[in-house]
Amino acid sequence: MPDSRLHDRVVIVTGAGSGIGRAAALAFARAGAHVLGVGRRPDALQQTADQHPGIAVLAADLTAADAPQAVIDAAAGRWGRLDVLVNNAGVTAVMPLADTDATRVNDLLALNVTAPSLLAQAALPYLRAHRGTIVNVSSTYGHRPLPGAAHYAASKAAIEQLTRSWALELAADGIRVNAVAPGPTASEALTAAGLSEAVVQQIEQDEAARIPLGRRGTPEEVAAWLVHLADPAATWITGQILTVDGGLELT
Ligand SMILES: NC(=O)c1ccc[n+]([C@@H]2O[C@H](COP(=O)([O-])OP(=O)(O)OC[C@H]3O[C@@H](n4cnc5c(N)ncnc54)[C@H](OP(=O)(O)O)[C@@H]3O)[C@@H](O)[C@H]2O)c1
Repeated sequence: MPDSRLHDRVVIVTGAGSGIGRAAALAFARAGAHVLGVGRRPDALQQTADQHPGIAVLAADLTAADAPQAVIDAAAGRWGRLDVLVNNAGVTAVMPLADTDATRVNDLLALNVTAPSLLAQAALPYLRAHRGTIVNVSSTYGHRPLPGAAHYAASKAAIEQLTRSWALELAADGIRVNAVAPGPTASEALTAAGLSEAVVQQIEQDEAARIPLGRRGTPEEVAAWLVHLADPAATWITGQILTVDGGLELT
C-alpha cells in the first residue's frame, strides 16, 4: 500500500493478542506499517500475526524489569526505526475499597501505568529521530468514577494525565501524544479480570442498555481511531483524549 502515510512506518502495539490490540495491529498492518505486537501469550499473538504478513510478534510480560527496553530494541533492531508506540495492554480489576489488596493495586499500576511509562521512555530516542507519536489507551473510566473498581479508574486517570503532560513535554521534539478512551468494547477484558461467564454476560447487557447507540463497541471501531491519531497527517493534534463510546459520555 505505497500511498498510505503509514507505509513502512514502524509501530509497536502492546496487548496485541486479543481485543482492541489485535484489531489495532491488523489495522496498522493494513495501512502499510510494520507492526510488532506484544503480549504474554505466544499462541494468542501468533493468531494475530497469522492475519497479516506485516505483523511480527514478541512474547513478553511488560511488567518484567527489562521488558520495556527489550520490546523497543526488538522493533528498532528489526526495522531500524520506531514511529508509533500504542500503549494498549491493560487489565481491569474489580476491587471494592473493603477488599483492597496491595499486591493487586501494585500489579494493576505496574501494567496500566508503569509499563507504558517505561516503554515511552525507551522509545524516546527513536520517536525524536522521526517525529514519532504515542497513542495511549484510556477508558471512559479515566474521567468518570467507577465504584467497585476505583483503582482501574485511577490507573486510567493516570494515563490521561501522562498523555497531556507528555504532550507538552515532548512538543518541542515534534512528538505528538494522544489517547483514545473507549467505552464498553467486546474483548477478553472482563473474562481476564477473573469474572464468571454469567457475571460477564450481565455486565455486557447492562452496558449495552446504557449506551445511547444501543450496543457495545467492536475492537475494530476503537482501533480505527488509534490509527487515525497515529497517522502522520494528524500533524496538529496532541494532548487529546478522544472518547469512542457510542455516546455513553453524554449520559
Ligand atoms: N474492552 C473494554 O470495554 C475497554 C474499555 C475501555 C478501555 N479498555 C482498555 O483497552 C485496552 C485493551 O483491552 P481489551 O479490552 O482489548 O482487553 P483484552 O482483550 O483483555 O486485552 C488486553 C491485552 O493485554 C495483554 N496483557 C495483559 N497483561 C499483560 C502483561 N503483563 N504484559 C503484556 N501484555 C499483557 C493481554 O495479553 P496476554 O494475556 O497474552 O498478556 C491482552 O491481549 C486496555 O488498556 C483496557 O483497559 C477496554
